[in-house]
Amino acid sequence: MTLRRTLFILLVALGVGACGGQASPPQQSLATETLASPTASPTEMPPTPAPPLYTQPDADIDARVDDLLSRMTLAEKIGQMTLIEKNSISPDEVRELAIGGVLSGGGGYPKDENSPEAWARMVEAYQQAALETRLGIPILYGVDAVHGHNNVYGATIFPHNVGLGAANDAELVARIGRATAVEMAATGIYWNYAPGVMVPQDIRWGRTYEGYAERPEHVAALASAFVRGLQSPDIAPPNLVMSTPKHYLGDGGTAWGTGDSGYQIDQGDTQVDEATMRALHLPPYQAAIEAGAKVIMASYSSWNGEKLHASLYWLTDVLKGELGFDGFVVSDWGAIDQISPDYYEAVVTAINAGIDMNMVPYDARRFITTLTQAVEAGDVPEARIDDAVRRILRVKFHMGLFEHPMAHAELLSEVGSAAHHALAREAAAKSAVLLKNEGNVLPLSKDVGHLFVGGLAADNMGIQAGGWTIEWQGKTGDIIPGTTILEGIQAAVSPQTVVEYNKFGNFQGDPSADDAVCIAVVGESPYAEGRGDSADLRLPTKEIRTLNRMEEACARLVVVLVSGRPLIVTDHIDAWDAFVAAWLPGSEGAGVADVLFGERPFVGRLPYTWPRSVEQVPLGRSDEPPLFPYGFGLTTEGE
Ligand code: BGC
Ligand code: BGC
Repeated sequence: MTLRRTLFILLVALGVGACGGQASPPQQSLATETLASPTASPTEMPPTPAPPLYTQPDADIDARVDDLLSRMTLAEKIGQMTLIEKNSISPDEVRELAIGGVLSGGGGYPKDENSPEAWARMVEAYQQAALETRLGIPILYGVDAVHGHNNVYGATIFPHNVGLGAANDAELVARIGRATAVEMAATGIYWNYAPGVMVPQDIRWGRTYEGYAERPEHVAALASAFVRGLQSPDIAPPNLVMSTPKHYLGDGGTAWGTGDSGYQIDQGDTQVDEATMRALHLPPYQAAIEAGAKVIMASYSSWNGEKLHASLYWLTDVLKGELGFDGFVVSDWGAIDQISPDYYEAVVTAINAGIDMNMVPYDARRFITTLTQAVEAGDVPEARIDDAVRRILRVKFHMGLFEHPMAHAELLSEVGSAAHHALAREAAAKSAVLLKNEGNVLPLSKDVGHLFVGGLAADNMGIQAGGWTIEWQGKTGDIIPGTTILEGIQAAVSPQTVVEYNKFGNFQGDPSADDAVCIAVVGESPYAEGRGDSADLRLPTKEIRTLNRMEEACARLVVVLVSGRPLIVTDHIDAWDAFVAAWLPGSEGAGVADVLFGERPFVGRLPYTWPRSVEQVPLGRSDEPPLFPYGFGLTTEGE
């Protein structure tokens, strides 16, 4: 046996591949080499070395991290710090570049078919490639499962956070977190870019519905419940599904007119002093970390002109120092690029400030080359790289990814299961807030003679689900399985009840008849992020026209608003007998029908102050009383 060959076998046995990316798994190479060696006999063989420490499931996590880190090249370390959208990378490139994370952005479903099984196959193809790298470090595959596993057709779609804030039931939120994790694990995905823990102060913001409420303690309680539920250790052992509280810090406090990426308020500047920043926006992070959060996403927004992605103070001093956060910080989508028009400077600033993993999202090579140059030039210390990689690896070990990197196919039957749909229905019912109920018109009798239902939002899955559903921006129409609010109403009433639906409120029958009740279900069209920034908080014109028509024609009018935030209804509400805020209830319109017909009581309370006019926005701008205060909500309990 030549010296080179002996050395090769030794290196392979130690788990140190001799030839970069394409090396096959250590054990297998050893066996091949030994068999192929003509002179090898059992007596000459060296004793079988123990497998590398980092591959030993029972070893201490920090020891595994140290061991693995000591074996890594700079290229492999920077690979771990790179997160890229799946449409911009192939499994082969994941192997070649030893990438650390891959994500599906909003709408990032498999190209061939959007089904849970196809998702699992897609994710496993990337995972397989990662396992074939020299060190076999599994990737983290991430998604925004912000109201259920919402990019997946067939998944259960829960109410958006605004609705859960109204329900204000921590135990319910924990169960939703758990159900979401089960549906994710079935597709091989253990990393969720949720919960949104923003504390929105200006409801004109397009992301208001991603936040639970306008008060920090309210958000903190529900966010930590979600983290606990999502990260339940008994769902799919050894795996944990990781949460990612976002966006750190102050995303809910930006000022109108300061937005970035062409938006009005989204990604803008939070112009408050440090005490306000800490009192209003920090508490949910403290609570989520206590609940076990190990990844936090940085915010596109700025604090008094400085991008959070560039803030050494907030990312490193406060989060990792003061709060003792030992997990890793992931950037938001392309957010590092916003720091400076000079990409080199942007990367150096962000990594030195404390960003550990970069959501690139399109060009992994550009980031890898840039960061490599920066390390070689001494602009980013190697110790910073080691710290970032150490944090990322620690989380991967903690999650059980090395032991079980693939999907839990045995959970596929739970994706969109009857039990999960029942939970979503319960959540939709508990989310609804009753704001007006003249003459106790609600709950309606199931034997009502004639029901006249109008409004685009009454019979539209896409509208009631909102943004972040199948597509990034969501989409109107029949985009997910479930029941529309109209279907829920039809199923609730007696066989004798005549239900007439016209989306514009043009009815054949007589909505002013003695035995008639009208229900207008009107809503916002789906949106996400800055595309939902709204200067006037008005309903779409078509929905306003329907309201006008029904206000005119109906003897009794119940209005159900489907929206991501309070809208201005001051000029209309006097003409309504009852008014219900249903928020974005998700796939179970039946849950809304449940409260309308008394199957369940109304228990929701406003998570956001309901302004009389946009002049009262943002919070604290006006001394005049709002239309309804935070916490307001009537109940039908006991009826
Ligand atoms: C959003 C994040 C999201 C990410 C990945 C960004 O545009 O701000 O909330 O997690 O995209 O989809
Ligand atoms: C992606 C989203 C992402 C957004 C950011 C979209 O193309 O699908 O996930 O949040 O871009 O601008």
